[in-house]
Amino acid sequence: MTPADPVKALIDQFSYTGQQGAIWKGFDRFLDTDRYLNLGYSSRFQTHLIGSPQRRLVAQVAMELTRGGVAPGDRLVDLGCGRGGPTLDLATELEVEAIGIDLVPYNLHLARINTYDALATPRFIQGDISHLPIRDGVAEAVTAIDSLVYIDRTERVMAELARILDPEATAVITDLMLGDAGDVETATLERFEDAWGLAAIVDIETYRAGIEASGLHIDAWTDLTPYSVGQFRAWTSRYLTLRAGHTSSLIERTFDRLDLDIDAIDEQVEAAHDILPHLRHVMVRSRIRGD
Ligand SMILES: C[S@@+](CC[C@H](N)C(=O)[O-])C[C@H]1O[C@@H](n2cnc3c(N)ncnc32)[C@H](O)[C@@H]1O
Repeated sequence: MTPADPVKALIDQFSYTGQQGAIWKGFDRFLDTDRYLNLGYSSRFQTHLIGSPQRRLVAQVAMELTRGGVAPGDRLVDLGCGRGGPTLDLATELEVEAIGIDLVPYNLHLARINTYDALATPRFIQGDISHLPIRDGVAEAVTAIDSLVYIDRTERVMAELARILDPEATAVITDLMLGDAGDVETATLERFEDAWGLAAIVDIETYRAGIEASGLHIDAWTDLTPYSVGQFRAWTSRYLTLRAGHTSSLIERTFDRLDLDIDAIDEQVEAAHDILPHLRHVMVRSRIRGD
């Protein structure tokens, strides 16, 4: 269900003033979420807890941008940049001139703190991905790392993304979609979207069609699911087992001490646990179609 004021809902979520922020506040206790907010990437031998899975996902995106021909000095626009960790990593690794766009003032505040004494100096601008404050055709690279899932009208957003791309440019998106919409109960999907403040999640075919309808050509399609969503489900299983066992009251007391809303977190974990087997996390590399 779309909230009455989606911008306020998004700001509340990532500023921890709304219920949907409960899990992010919890993640803050043990992950790098003051810098990164994405689903992360861990190979079979890495745990999704130690090190920075979120940073590893950005490394995958950097490799994909390089495969797409992005070179030092190019201008990169990072859509839904969050707290700036990804924008800074991309600027440092690829030596590009990076601009991060996000709607949430608290995220941009952290992004500026996180990059203030860095060698690379990305710029951060408050803006809505649906109406980008960027001129036509000026970006040689565009990234959207797990950010488009918060916005309805994917086709419209893809068109906006295509608008700012230089004709020779490369876009790399990581996003969530349904493997097969027929397999999923609508109520299960909507419960997840509501609990996490997401827009309607579409299936792979609809997603691909949305990209192609906006004038983009898909150059590469990489399924990240086992390395991100699959790893995350191992977590939801562990959490739910602990909540059902003897440790439950200890978890309640600990969360209480950490000022975490356990009811909201339970709801987010349960909703995610049920839908994760049906979700695909995909990295898409695309460029403007040359016809
Ligand atoms: C899951 S976080 C990912 C952040 C970052 N890309 C990363 O990898 O750490 C999604 C981000 O998208 C931003 N976002 C969602 N909808 C947006 C919109 N319409 N305009 C700008 N930013 C948006 C959120 O504020 C949030 O920072």
